[in-house]
Amino acid sequence: MTRDYLSINKDIWNADATNWVEFAKSRWSLEVPAWGNWGNSDAGLQLLPMDMTDMDAIELGCGTGYVAGWMNRRGARVTAIDLSAEQLSTARQMSEKHGADITFIEGNAEQTGLPDASFDFAISEYGASIWCPPDKWLREAWRLLRPGGRLVFLGNHPLSLICSPLDGAPADRTLHRPYREMWGADWTEVEYEPTGVCFNLTISSWIDLFTDIGFAVSKYQELYAPESAMGTRAAIPADWAKSYPVEQVWHLLKHE
Ligand SMILES: C[S@@+](CC[C@H](N)C(=O)[O-])C[C@H]1O[C@@H](n2cnc3c(N)ncnc32)[C@H](O)[C@@H]1O
Repeated sequence: MTRDYLSINKDIWNADATNWVEFAKSRWSLEVPAWGNWGNSDAGLQLLPMDMTDMDAIELGCGTGYVAGWMNRRGARVTAIDLSAEQLSTARQMSEKHGADITFIEGNAEQTGLPDASFDFAISEYGASIWCPPDKWLREAWRLLRPGGRLVFLGNHPLSLICSPLDGAPADRTLHRPYREMWGADWTEVEYEPTGVCFNLTISSWIDLFTDIGFAVSKYQELYAPESAMGTRAAIPADWAKSYPVEQVWHLLKHE
């Protein structure tokens, strides 16, 4: 990927931010977190510690900031960084409305400028987890965490990318791309619903990278759409997402 994905993705999110305000309102209003494009229930997933009292937590690519809001509600001191000033504007409005206390930073999650070992917990839900090259943002997350600190991130399952046609049409049951040497996809010039540049890896490449950086995998979850799901979200039809894993969640531990 030689294109300037950072400015491409920043422009796209600034331009798209108004389309995420209603979504932000509904997620910020939830008592119990719901995750990913299909709003999977937190029951059984538990992406966040139940009690985050006295924890320093960071959300990397926070968008409208509802995950940061949930962490703050559980007692954490929260920092949330995003590249898009427009997304952060929504996040700040929501935070104020819900009485949250969050430090928002406009910046790049690959290079936050924050001190080493300053967080106990880091998370990304469709933020840095898909919009940044894994080798860059994962090293930054590792640097930011204290020894024994945890990183949880959610993004597209590699299988959903393989089954996505090259023109951006909704995923189907054909293998449209090679799995081998997967790096992600450039969606900027596709025919259907163009967007930015996204990153992903094969499962073994993810694990090799975690090991190289110094993370241990404590849990890996594959998410499907709930049985009640209908329609198409992020170019994945509900029927596809009920039969195949549409999203993945990695739970990582920084070695002591
Ligand atoms: C889908 S949204 C974030 C998800 C969040 N959970 C939400 O739905 O509001 C993706 C966000 O990633 C941000 N982003 C993309 N690249 C980034 C980078 N390099 N550093 C920080 N944020 C980034 C975008 O600006 C956008 O706000």
